[in-house]
Amino acid sequence: MNDMVTTAGMPVHERTTILGVETSCDETAAAVVRGGRDILSSVVSSQVDLHARFGGVVPEVASRAHVALITPVVAQAMVESGVTDADIDAVAVTAGPGLVGSLLVGMSAAKALALAWDVPLVGVNHLEAHLYASLLEEPALEFPLLVLIVSGGHTLLVGFHGHGQYRIMGSTLDDAAGEAFDKVARYLGLGYPGGPAIDREAMAGDPEAIAFPRAMLDNGFDFSFSGLKTAVINHVRRHPDVSTVDVAAGFQQAVVDVLVHKARGAARAMGAKGICLSGGVAANSQLREAILDVCVADGLHGYLPSRTMCTDNAAMVAAVGWWRLMADGASPLDIGVVPGIGFPGTIG
Ligand code: KG4
Ligand code: ZN
Repeated sequence: MNDMVTTAGMPVHERTTILGVETSCDETAAAVVRGGRDILSSVVSSQVDLHARFGGVVPEVASRAHVALITPVVAQAMVESGVTDADIDAVAVTAGPGLVGSLLVGMSAAKALALAWDVPLVGVNHLEAHLYASLLEEPALEFPLLVLIVSGGHTLLVGFHGHGQYRIMGSTLDDAAGEAFDKVARYLGLGYPGGPAIDREAMAGDPEAIAFPRAMLDNGFDFSFSGLKTAVINHVRRHPDVSTVDVAAGFQQAVVDVLVHKARGAARAMGAKGICLSGGVAANSQLREAILDVCVADGLHGYLPSRTMCTDNAAMVAAVGWWRLMADGASPLDIGVVPGIGFPGTIG
């Protein structure tokens, strides 16, 4: 690979070693990645237990936990990587989207480290980082690729045409897929986070027992999950003795059917060579199976990153930081956080 010179005048190459910092939601994470690909360490401290008693992420609780965790998490990532401070060439940090207080903790820490080590700072987009998570585990992945990002905060179909070239094919008009899992699980008394609980319950249920709606199934690539959530609540109210496992199975089947149907359609429409999953809901066993089935049927590559790589982590932040440093150069040190930002550099 030839060295490419950034606007900051810094050569970026396969030995360029980046510390990534991620605090956009309820995971405090730091990682050291070399050459945008080689993960030397990746530490994730999840706050899920902290938020469980509230039934969802409480922003102020998350910010305070990030403050307490950021220094030990970065220190652990440095120790586990086996490199020294002097080996770090740049610090990449999630600038948005996310919770403002949480983002500010990671951003402040990253700026302090970049200043102290006298290395460039790169602010990165969290959603773009999710796209690069797939490249970390599948370096041979071929473009164009359809990526389905399904988490507690996002449901997006993204055409990944090349580095920095994205087309948003569809997104949710209301609840995110993970949010729907969490809200339905909460209603069913299954606890938080709801996704894994529904996944487990559904295994014992009959997905055909209750016919829940598949909103906007053949109507473009956007999603709507709030009607499904209401349908589940109404059904349980009308049938108080209904079996919880059947409700979980029917609900999950409805979500998976819509996600897979639209991902398949979007992949066809953009001429994708493969479909890739990202985000916490990508851990769903039925979704993983159904996406692979569609890929086999349509002659596409199915990429299912590990759960660790699907959920929030800093390795993906360092990976996209490497690419952004090469393409755009460093960010100014007075960069702010951007809680509501969309995708960068989109096409079409
Ligand atoms: O990406 P993530 O860890 O955090 C953010 O939202 O940023 O995603 C968390 C979401 C939660 O809504 C959780 O219920 C869902 O992912 N989830 C699942 C499963 N595991 C986690 N949803 C369905 N099935 C699962 N097995
Ligand atoms: Zn995320």
